[in-house]
Amino acid sequence: MDHATALSRRIATHTARLTIIGQGYVGLPLAVEFAKAGFAVTGLDADPDRVAALATGRSHVPDVRSEELQTLLRDGRYHATGEPALLADSDAVLICVPTPLRKSKAPDISYVVAASREVAARFRPGQLIILESTTYPGTTEELLLPLFQENGARIGEDLFLAFSPERIDPGNPTFKVKDIPKVVGGLTPTCTRLASALYREIIPRVHEVSTPKVAELAKLYENVFRNVNIALANEFSLMCRHLGVSTREVIDAAATKPFGFMPFYPGPGIGGHCIPVDPLYLSWKMRLSGYEARFISLADEINRAMPAHVLSLVCDALNEMGLALKGTRILVLGVAYKRGSGDTRESPAYEIIATLRRKGAQVSYADPHVPTFPVDGTELKAVEPGEEELRGADCLLILADHPEFDYRMVARVGRLIVDTRNSVPDIAGVRGRLVKL
Ligand SMILES: NC(=O)c1ccc[n+]([C@@H]2O[C@H](COP(=O)([O-])OP(=O)(O)OC[C@H]3O[C@@H](n4cnc5c(N)ncnc54)[C@H](O)[C@@H]3O)[C@@H](O)[C@H]2O)c1
Repeated sequence: MDHATALSRRIATHTARLTIIGQGYVGLPLAVEFAKAGFAVTGLDADPDRVAALATGRSHVPDVRSEELQTLLRDGRYHATGEPALLADSDAVLICVPTPLRKSKAPDISYVVAASREVAARFRPGQLIILESTTYPGTTEELLLPLFQENGARIGEDLFLAFSPERIDPGNPTFKVKDIPKVVGGLTPTCTRLASALYREIIPRVHEVSTPKVAELAKLYENVFRNVNIALANEFSLMCRHLGVSTREVIDAAATKPFGFMPFYPGPGIGGHCIPVDPLYLSWKMRLSGYEARFISLADEINRAMPAHVLSLVCDALNEMGLALKGTRILVLGVAYKRGSGDTRESPAYEIIATLRRKGAQVSYADPHVPTFPVDGTELKAVEPGEEELRGADCLLILADHPEFDYRMVARVGRLIVDTRNSVPDIAGVRGRLVKL
């Protein structure tokens, strides 16, 4: 029996052994979904603390409940390890490691290279390797394939290699792993067919494309689309401020059009591991061939200016109340980069809080998902946003609109509220001054 047929049978009978490299926001929910479907799944991670927690059934991501993990551990469907030796026993390996930016804003592909080297060094004929990390177009073919070929692998015959971008939205209760269609592009038609077959065991809708590069670009296009539209909403909010019009009222009115429009809203700046980062992977790659991705550059410039804009809104509002920033008590509500999440990666709260502190403001913060928050070498501790705390602040600055906050109380007791998320609902109930983006 040839390698493709053998693997295809193991996938169909759920006897294929899977290893998912990287047990973060992406890799852990994916591992759990495959394990729940009956596959024997190994979660391989380089962080010993993470492995130790997972091995005792403690989940660190919102999309996986610890009880769920404990059941899978008990049933022998899932186990976590830091030991790459077992890669040799795997039938399929899915790579879900970080793809951040370097200080220079160039892609930091080192995690993908390190993980791929681990797999290639232990390559066994018949393995299916899938890269899920968001990356620049060409990574799978130009970077991964040669690593395996160096070890004697023959693509489409005894090595099956594909790219399939992860599209999860951590914490989203409506769209979980199995609800989000999967895009798959393999190096050869057999690679695509095998990778799709594997995903179809847990995800009903799989969309095949002709090459890994198409799949890599599809993911980047999705995130560039989001980044550019958020930038447009952010710039629109600056224009509306000049014109003395409520941005939200304009966007909500436009959103009544039942076709050809999708609402995006302004915010204090973009954060997370994807939207501020991924577009720069594409513009970097394009720059190598002399093409300047103008939309991406402009959107990045506008979005990165938003924290400074929020700071100026705070200063102006305090000024109108006869207060200077220096010595003013500011309570920041929400430091995660988005609602309902504890993820602070690239959060605009870092720049905003650090600048406020440098200018002499006394800043505290509340965030039910983030117990501590490091700023300029100081570890801030979250406070409870009870009535007394809210009343004690000169300014309540809402950066993440977590559902746990009591916005009615915020409206009732806040002296100055700078609401970057349009979360304070009833303008009529506001006691003090309310500033929105
Ligand atoms: N978080 C999201 O919302 C999201 C959504 C879609 C796509 N993505 C993409 O998915 C990829 C992973 O993102 P994430 O949010 O899960 O990252 P994460 O930081 O939450 O998890 C990555 C994990 O990989 C581990 N790791 C790094 N190098 C390793 C190696 N060589 N061997 C074993 N483990 C290693 C780290 O210890 C960490 O636990 C990124 O490319 C990201 O852009 C993320």
